Amino acid sequence: MISLEGKVALITGASRGIGRATANCLAHLGADIAILDIDEQAAAAVDEIRAMGRKALFIHTDVASHQSVRAAVAAAEAELGPIDILVNNAGIVKNIAPIAKMTPEAWQKELGVNLTGPFNLIQAIAPGMAERGWGRIVNISSAAAKGGLFNQAGYAATKSGLLGLTQNVTLEYAGKGITCNAILPGVIGTENVMAMPGEIFDQAVRMVPTGRVGEPKEVAQLIAFLCSDLAGYINGVDILIDGGAALNTVVLGSRKALRN
Ligand SMILES: NC(=O)c1ccc[n+]([C@@H]2O[C@H](COP(=O)([O-])OP(=O)(O)OC[C@H]3O[C@@H](n4cnc5c(N)ncnc54)[C@H](O)[C@@H]3O)[C@@H](O)[C@H]2O)c1
Repeated sequence: MISLEGKVALITGASRGIGRATANCLAHLGADIAILDIDEQAAAAVDEIRAMGRKALFIHTDVASHQSVRAAVAAAEAELGPIDILVNNAGIVKNIAPIAKMTPEAWQKELGVNLTGPFNLIQAIAPGMAERGWGRIVNISSAAAKGGLFNQAGYAATKSGLLGLTQNVTLEYAGKGITCNAILPGVIGTENVMAMPGEIFDQAVRMVPTGRVGEPKEVAQLIAFLCSDLAGYINGVDILIDGGAALNTVVLGSRKALRN
């Protein structure tokens, strides 16, 4: 049975999508929750968690800003106590362009949120976890970290970079009671994904042997397990949660056609 009773979790980017499902799931399992986000909708997520009887707060923070992250972590710890669990979830996917046309500004922006953001949070929080001898860090990467994503070089590069960061945090902190792992979601049915044009959505689902998109709560449940005492010996790994999409879907697709 997973219990996060008595733990304090900080989740970035929890106004919606996977982050919000994670905040709800960890609170349901007993954790108090700090949310760092740039979207005021995160206040509604906090209300939901307080209604469960947990403590929660939202601090408006751009994770790409080193100073803002430092101040937010200090404020969260002053209110909720030391942070035991860090989920680096905030991420952006807006930079869609071929490499030849990608602007340096868009590249830097994506790097700032998707890779420097997790670095800022880990640097602010991991030393305290190490002093206390217990900590859980989960970095939300993407299946794109392994196979790239057409016309999204910035996104794929930042998500691959996050795997390198994950491995190094493990090397530096594994001996101090901290685990750091990465999760690589495939297509998950968040608000943004469900709003994709029908044709692109259908094409994405056809790539998934399981035959559907994942639910945000399915990713949240994996995160919850990694954050629990049950997962203390899982460290420095990256875990795909993609309904089998990374397998040879062409072969699987043709087998399915034979069955029908
Ligand atoms: N949805 C998917 O199919 C999918 C697949 C693979 C990986 N992921 C990854 O999972 C994570 C969550 O994805 P999602 O689909 O729920 O995203 P989403 O866009 O629905 O939510 C992202 C959250 O991050 C916040 N955010 C954005 N920039 C920020 C910043 N600079 N500082 C603080 N907060 C910021 C947003 O306000 C929002 O709350 C992302 O890292 C994403 O790359 C998602």
